[in-house]
Parts: sequence; structure tokens; C-alpha cells
Amino acid sequence: MKALVLSGGSGTRLRPFSYSMPKQLIPIANKPVLEHVLEDIRDMGVTEIGVIVGSWAPQIAEVIGDGTRLGVRVTYIPQDEPLGLAHCVTLAKPFLGEHDFVMYLGDNMLPEGTAAIADEFREGRPAAQIVVHKVADPRAFGVAELDTEGRVARLVEKPQEPKSDLAMIGVYFFTPEIHRAVESIEPSARGELEITDAIQWLLEDGAEIRASEYRGYWKDTGRADDVLECNRYLLGSLPPAVLGEIDEASELTGRVRIEAGARVVRSRIEGPAVIGAGSVIEDSYIGPGTAIGQGCTLCDTRIRDSIVLDGAAISQVPGIHGSIIGRNATVGAGADVDTYHRLVVGDHTRIEVAA
Ligand code: TTP
Repeated sequence: MKALVLSGGSGTRLRPFSYSMPKQLIPIANKPVLEHVLEDIRDMGVTEIGVIVGSWAPQIAEVIGDGTRLGVRVTYIPQDEPLGLAHCVTLAKPFLGEHDFVMYLGDNMLPEGTAAIADEFREGRPAAQIVVHKVADPRAFGVAELDTEGRVARLVEKPQEPKSDLAMIGVYFFTPEIHRAVESIEPSARGELEITDAIQWLLEDGAEIRASEYRGYWKDTGRADDVLECNRYLLGSLPPAVLGEIDEASELTGRVRIEAGARVVRSRIEGPAVIGAGSVIEDSYIGPGTAIGQGCTLCDTRIRDSIVLDGAAISQVPGIHGSIIGRNATVGAGADVDTYHRLVVGDHTRIEVAA
């Protein structure tokens, strides 16, 4: 079996970050989403991975390389325009050949793993095996209606009156039969070749489509709030360790990981939290749900439930929460600032200040 990871797209829901980096490289518990994805695929026993990339191809290649570091072999497949998930299958045909494959959306997180579902697919080899997850409000999703044997009877895109609460999530298993389907469908109203339409085509053609329920934690990290929630969840199982330096006046409680070369001075860190390599935390409080990247400086600051990307500097800010701070950003009190805030803010940025 091979794998196809979709790491192109436009990422509009994750602006402003997606202006300067692909959303698949956003760190969750200090590791890019795409690395979490590749590791899940490796744990299925699949090592030949095609990665669809758009305009961020060089940045993705710089981080992932040829995959050796993660124990996989990556082949990059360029996509000029995000023309849909099924379009990605068409582009990958020369790479996939006649192999069965797993298609994995590069912004989806399934931390409890999908190896058992991969085994189920290998055993039964239906034309498609989709992964479904119980959601509170299925109206925003592609919804699968199943028969009593677990076969998919019907797929309905964003139903107003859902007959099932099982939403299709970002992992799909296919035999080469899918190629006939993607060649037969037309672009949807939004101009994309939809994978749901391809699966529906197979269903109408009489192919067997199965569904497996993933019961663990799932997140589509397409929006900032989802990234933060997922970060919180993943920090909860990060192996605690102190590889950096903590001075006598500092205190660590709960699950805390301090990476090599990080320094904590006169500060309190309450886990789950991680401090990246080479970061310096001084006279600060780092609260639960916080991931500080590499080479950051935090001084005289209180922060919780947040992600701080590499190289950011924060000083004299008494209360940050639910925030994502971009790479090399500077946040802090200004010398001449009293009752007014001074902001240098890029497009589509969101800032909330005390009223
Ligand atoms: P989406 O999140 O559905 O699309 P998007 O990346 O364009 O995001 P937004 O809605 O915020 O603008 O895509 C799911 C995954 O598939 C994501 O990792 C991007 C990837 N993708 C491609 O690689 N090619 C495509 O043509 C599309 C539509 C998505």
C-alpha cells in the first residue's frame, strides 16, 4: 500500500498564518501537523508517500526533506491550483500506479492512530473504505448513512436533516478502482473535483464502500481555534522531561517538557506545557495548554492556552491566553504606551483587547 498526503490548498481559514507558512507546518505540541500525519502513516506500515504540494512546496520540502528523518520515503507531487481532493488523486496517478493507497488530508489530526483501520482495509479491500467520526452537528460535514453490515448505503454532503451523526473525516483508503471514478466526475458548483462525488460514483456503480468509525480524538486544524484545542489535547500526552536548565527560584508543576538548551529563570510553569530548545523564560508564568517554540524569549509575562512560534519575543504582558503568536513576532509593553495600544497588524489578523 502507498499513501497520498494532501498538503496543498489555500488555507484561507488560517489567515494570517497561511500568508507566511503552509497550514500543514503549523506546530501542534511543537511538531508540525504534517509530521504528525506522516508518523501516523508510518505506523500503518506504509512508507512510500506521495505529498501533494502547492505554492509552499519549498517550505514543506525544507522541513520534511525526503522523509528519511521520519522513517518514510517522500515523493513531492506539485499541484498548480487547489482544484479539489479528487484532482489530487488524478495528479498522483503516475506515483500510485496500480497500488492500493491511503489518502490523508495534511491538516487532519487523529492522534489515537488509524493503523487498525488500515489493517481492516487490507483484509477486506473494498473499493473504498472511509473513516467516520461521531460529531455533534453533522450538518457541516459529508455524512455517511450505513447499512446494518457497516457498508455505506448513502453519502450526503452537508445535509439539512442528517439521518446519521457519522461525519467523513480526512482519511480514506482506496483500491485503484478510484481512478475510474475520478476520471468520470465533473467539477462541483465550487469548481473543485470532489472526493465525495468520486466515492458516490463508485457507490452508484455498484462498488462496495465500507466505513470504519474512528473513536479517538479528531481535529481538522483548518482554523486557529481548532489548532489551539488540538495543541491542548496533544500536550496532555507529551512525555515530560527536563533537558534544559531550571534555576532554584523556578517551579514546575504537572506535565512539563523543557527541551535542551532552554532556560527557565524565576518562573512558574504549570503543565501540560512545552518549552522549545533554546528558549528563555524569565520572571514569567507559563500556564496549562502552552507550547513555546524554539529560540523564544518570554520576560515578565503571564501566558496560558497558547502557541508561540519559533523566535518570538514577549515581554511585560500580564495576561495572554488562547493566542497564537507568529514566528519572530514581538509582543510587549512599549515605553510611551500608557492607556493606548500600539499595534502593527498584518492582514486578516485577529486581536482582542480588554474593553
Ligand atoms: P481544505 O482545508 O478543505 O482546503 P484549503 O486548504 O483550501 O483550506 P481553506 O478552506 O481554509 O481555504 O483542504 C484539506 C486538505 O487538503 C488541506 O491539507 C489542503 C489539501 N488540499 C490540496 O492539497 N489540494 C486541493 O486542491 C485542496 C482543495 C486541498
